[in-house]
Amino acid sequence: MKVGRDIVVDRDRKAYEVGLPFIRGVGVEHKIEFAEKNACNILKGLLNKGKEGTFDFAFVDANKKHYKYYHEALLKLVKVEGAIIYDNSIHFGSSEVLDEIKLFEDGIGIPKKKSIQNVHEDIRDVNRFLVSDPRIGITHVSVEDGITLCRRMY
Ligand SMILES: C[S@@+](CC[C@H](N)C(=O)[O-])C[C@H]1O[C@@H](n2cnc3c(N)ncnc32)[C@H](O)[C@@H]1O
Repeated sequence: MKVGRDIVVDRDRKAYEVGLPFIRGVGVEHKIEFAEKNACNILKGLLNKGKEGTFDFAFVDANKKHYKYYHEALLKLVKVEGAIIYDNSIHFGSSEVLDEIKLFEDGIGIPKKKSIQNVHEDIRDVNRFLVSDPRIGITHVSVEDGITLCRRMY
């Protein structure tokens, strides 16, 4: 039987370390290969190594501006019938992504209005792009930040 393995990529190791106690808690650290690198380079490297169609699953939670690039690479790396999941599809559960831009209060951990507008625009752009991509079947899960589940169709 093949044992599942994960490649986890974040250009900031500290972000990975936030989850590390939970990873250790369930005893799966040995299954994870962590890369403190730019995700675009990792994906390009995997394609260059001929890893097309070898992944069952990908989860994407990074800078929204690169999501289209990730999508193209992942559609090659993930096998047909495999899953690609995108996080934050309704940013903070906010209607702003779905509807008009509203004012956000400034506060600790809450981005200012201009940057949140940009993020919302990027997320809307990604959502429109995914909806119109015939290579995938998609569904949306409206929990918290929202996730978009994509299945590679061919
Ligand atoms: C919202 S955080 C998510 C962190 C982690 N996935 C989690 O759920 O706790 C987004 C992460 O994407 C990382 N990131 C953004 N752009 C990236 C890129 N081009 N390559 C690798 N990591 C990137 C950031 O360093 C940041 O830690």
